[in-house]
Amino acid sequence: MSLHATEHPAHQNQADQVVIGLFKDQKTNQHTESFSDELKKQIADRFNNKDFTGRSGQQVTLYNQNGQQVVLIGLGDNDDCSATALYDTTHKVVSAAAGSRCQSVALYLNDNDFNNIDTEQATKLVTLAASHAAYRYEDTKSFKDDNKHTLDRIEVATNENNSEAFRLAAGMAKGINATRHLGNYPPNLCTPKYMAKFATDIAHNDDNCDIDILDKKQMKKMGMGALLAVAQGSHNKPRLIVLSYNGADKDDDPIALVGKGITFDTGGISLKPGANMDEMKYDMCGAASVIGAFVAAVELKLPINLKVFVPAVENMPDGKAYRPGDVITSYSGQTIEVLNTDAEGRMILCDTLTYAQEFNPEVVVDMATLTGACVVALGHNAAAVMTKTDGLYEEFKTAGEQTHDRVWELPLWDEYQKQLDTSFADMKNIGGAPAGTITAGCFLSRFTKGQKWAHIDIAGVAWKDKKEGATGRPVAMLTQYLINKGIAK
Ligand code: BES
Ligand code: MN
Ligand code: ZN
Repeated sequence: MSLHATEHPAHQNQADQVVIGLFKDQKTNQHTESFSDELKKQIADRFNNKDFTGRSGQQVTLYNQNGQQVVLIGLGDNDDCSATALYDTTHKVVSAAAGSRCQSVALYLNDNDFNNIDTEQATKLVTLAASHAAYRYEDTKSFKDDNKHTLDRIEVATNENNSEAFRLAAGMAKGINATRHLGNYPPNLCTPKYMAKFATDIAHNDDNCDIDILDKKQMKKMGMGALLAVAQGSHNKPRLIVLSYNGADKDDDPIALVGKGITFDTGGISLKPGANMDEMKYDMCGAASVIGAFVAAVELKLPINLKVFVPAVENMPDGKAYRPGDVITSYSGQTIEVLNTDAEGRMILCDTLTYAQEFNPEVVVDMATLTGACVVALGHNAAAVMTKTDGLYEEFKTAGEQTHDRVWELPLWDEYQKQLDTSFADMKNIGGAPAGTITAGCFLSRFTKGQKWAHIDIAGVAWKDKKEGATGRPVAMLTQYLINKGIAK
């Protein structure tokens, strides 16, 4: 499926389906005014019969003389039309189109005069929602032809005020699709080796990109004991993948993104319960997100230097697996008592964060499906941001609002640190039941001292359920953050 900007007025558009958004009781707009008299009469009749009133999400399909479908979609009262409402309405109408036989859809939704959404944001939301709704996972399906979906082209109405917003959103969408693929791809195939190959292909496709992959032997020599402890129970050998993109002056310090890449999390010796364990294939969604943001940054040729670090590791129970009680020496030299092998994300991240610092990053951001507690705290609507760097949370909050991919802050107060105290090492790897998301953040903070750093727990947003699968969040927010960094320079 491909995304395109269209500057054609609706009545000249050749798509199989033309979608027009109308507010409640808005009987005409700039698009419907140019329609044929016959079509205008159909629209007027619908309003007169109260078949269609413009209520939010209401949808009717009309046909013009050529048999082209013209879909009216209700946007509700303009004052009530929030970013969420516009996103959801777009998603609904494109899902319906994707479930039909039509091949191309043109959306005239974002070019309305919204009271609460500016034209750039509206264009981003419509583009992202449309792309999201049109995505299909097909990588491990052997389709019969008749259930293969046909929608392969989406057009978004643009003009001089929003064509740049469209370009940015289309770049994000490309990254999001990469992230969703990686997230959904099954754990027997999406191994550390596969992730390394996927990243290598990205880097080899662009002259401004580079890749470095550390293998087990190199990591052992360097002393990455925490990452290797998790890896030692699996026959799939770990990788530490480092993707670089050079879009600014060579001497500019890079932005570093670190993503948890547990390709499958059984819990290890502290084995997880069986129900829904399959969903732990999504435990590499932090990695998938930073790779997706990398794809978007390269696609958009952002004027920044970017480094993406992905520890790709599988957490398995085994005769060689690490165990509760083990004391591990991390790459930083700090020792960690393992009290639960299921708190493995922080083990692979801490060594990666220490390594990332060697590249003098301007700022380090890690993201991870780190704690079940985060899903309890914020549900599926917001990722949790933890940081002690002034202003950094606000940057993510703004970027999240610009893309409808929102975050919320949790505190990293020093008071929580003592939950990590133990008699047998510098720290333990779990902090007990209270504030489980925050104590995970506290653990990571011990490996980012003196750095501008934020941790983002994406456990609630990276996937919702088995049907919808990976969401691609928070790639839109993260890419917007990188865009804003590029503008600020
Ligand atoms: N990957 C999980 C976190 C997770 C669980 C995310 C369920 C989304 C849904 C992580 O590795 C984990 O197992 N965390 C433990 C930490 C605990 C042992 C301190 C958790 O959340 O239970
Ligand atoms: Mn775990
Ligand atoms: Zn995990």
